[in-house]
Amino acid sequence: MSDPVVSRPVVSRPVPEVVSRLGAVFRVFDQQDSGCVSYGVRGADGVGCFVKVARTATGAESLRRAVQVHTAVRHPALVAPTQVLADSEGPVLVYPWVDGDVLYHATVGPDGVPTSQPRSDPGSPMARFRRLPLDAVRRAVDTVLDVHQVVDEAGLVAVDLYDGCFLYDWDAGALHVIDADEYRPGPFVTHEQLPGSRRFFAPEELGTGQVVDRRTTVYRLGRVARLLMDAGDTESAWRGTQAELGVIARATQPEPAARYQCVRDLVAAWRAAS
Ligand SMILES: Nc1ncnc2c1ncn2[C@@H]1O[C@H](COP(=O)(O)OP(=O)(O)OP(=O)(O)O)[C@@H](O)[C@H]1O
Ligand SMILES: [Mg+2]
Repeated sequence: MSDPVVSRPVVSRPVPEVVSRLGAVFRVFDQQDSGCVSYGVRGADGVGCFVKVARTATGAESLRRAVQVHTAVRHPALVAPTQVLADSEGPVLVYPWVDGDVLYHATVGPDGVPTSQPRSDPGSPMARFRRLPLDAVRRAVDTVLDVHQVVDEAGLVAVDLYDGCFLYDWDAGALHVIDADEYRPGPFVTHEQLPGSRRFFAPEELGTGQVVDRRTTVYRLGRVARLLMDAGDTESAWRGTQAELGVIARATQPEPAARYQCVRDLVAAWRAAS
């Protein structure tokens, strides 16, 4: 999710030619605030793909970043582009279609006002996820950690990692990580407010002029575990153990020096506690 002030969604545009050449469009994602419009497309061979097209300069920049991320990082649970095409406004990324639901689908109306289904809505994918057996939730958290150990070791910081990056396949019981478009090499100093969901923000991500690094990823992963392993949406119904809660407390210390210093250390502590 990016700043709605910077880029507005572009609703109901004609399907770009580069997309229609790939097959028949069966879904349109045109209420994103990323500056991209995406399409579910079925090819002549019956195989589905997810095609993401930039529609603003911000969107094009994020897709160029995504290409770099997927060049640096490979993981079976990180959904990667199979083709990189282009049109007049920038890169066009073709991903395999993944069945399931994103746990939180951040959407905005034409005026940039959020229109997302609340996570607390009992019919929302997040609420459904929170009703899964704890073993399944733990496996999902483990997948997120595993992917981000590879991300961290490739030198990238998981900027804008949130529950909108988790596409959960209910039938397979498998979590897929999507939309790593804001991930970037770290450490870096912020020059503008980073995009993202506030409930996942580390303190150093608020404002500008601060160092963001692998300990920022550690913090976000702590928030992911805290929020995914709760039975509700107000962080008052923890489903895990006290030892796991202790790991989260250290991962989310306000001062980066007090956290695990890399994702590998966080993962080791988490696995020892689980
Ligand atoms: N590979 C995929 N297969 C099927 N559906 C997908 C896939 N990738 C993403 N989606 C769906 O498309 C939606 C938008 O994708 P994505 O989050 O990548 O777009 P975005 O333009 O970056 O949006 P945002 O503004 O939230 O950052 C997701 O919430 C999800 O529902
Ligand atoms: Mg995005």
